[in-house]
Amino acid sequence: MQGIKVVSNLAMLIALALSNQVFAETSAKIGAPENSFAKGNAEKGQQIASQVCASCHNADGNSTIPANPILAGQHAEYITKQLINFKARDNKPAERPSPVMSAMVVTLSPDDMKNLGAYYTSQNPKPGVAKDKTLAEQGEKIYRGGNIESGVPACASCHSPNGAGIPPFYPRLAGQHAEYTVAQLRAFRTEQRANDINKVMRGVVTRMSEKEMQTVAEFISGLR
Ligand code: HEC
Ligand code: HEC
Repeated sequence: MQGIKVVSNLAMLIALALSNQVFAETSAKIGAPENSFAKGNAEKGQQIASQVCASCHNADGNSTIPANPILAGQHAEYITKQLINFKARDNKPAERPSPVMSAMVVTLSPDDMKNLGAYYTSQNPKPGVAKDKTLAEQGEKIYRGGNIESGVPACASCHSPNGAGIPPFYPRLAGQHAEYTVAQLRAFRTEQRANDINKVMRGVVTRMSEKEMQTVAEFISGLR
């Protein structure tokens, strides 16, 4: 038990160091002073969300379409960071390319992005249910213990045992659509998604098999 405690304290320390780095690097991208993009106005965010985003992510962020991520209950700062990352800037391609989302962020100001984060984080995520229990049981082993043979780390150490993540920048995964999660793991593996600072997720997925990605995604979809 002592060992587990030391490991989880270490994870918190690393999470803190990472969050300072992400704040600094991401704020610099939008020319904002450090930390300034963390706070937003949920009511203003709701206006944009209901007009522009609801058709795909649902009014309260509980998307019902498997390719569109659930945003309800996600950390505000993580959402704001993703919106920043969907935008191409300085003549470089977006760090997180998405034909759909790149069109959505064109007209959003940094303040809009903060406000949208504040809105979605205030919404309650609907409890998830895994469709395939056998697959989910296999995935639970990877989520909690990783794969010691191939060196896949336990997801729980950074995304927390119940999938709530560690605010501000380790995202909540609990209840997410399995299809979306698998798509993201694949995108990290092909480095099409390259917005994870210090290549944290790209390092995790290089050692994962396709089967492991599917089982762990199924398990995550049932976490609540
Ligand atoms: C036409 C459908 C559509 C609309 C409208 C849309 N989105 Fe998305 N959104 C998507 C899809 C698809 C993805 C997954 C992109 C990918 O493959 O990485 C996504 C991803 C995201 C993510 C990343 C979530 C995560 O967990 O990393 C955020 C944040 C987001 N959208 C916010 C918004 C906001 C805010 C709006 C309104 C301004 C919006 N979206 C409008 C389809 C849509
Ligand atoms: C060392 C810490 C760490 C470990 C271990 C880790 N992750 Fe992550 N993960 C992150 C960070 C940080 C991000 C956010 C990257 C960004 O800024 O977009 C992330 C993002 C993700 C995303 C994208 C979420 C979204 O909404 O788009 C998924 C899916 C994910 N991780 C799944 C996993 C799985 C499955 C495992 C275990 C096999 C795992 N992670 C292990 C740190 C970690």
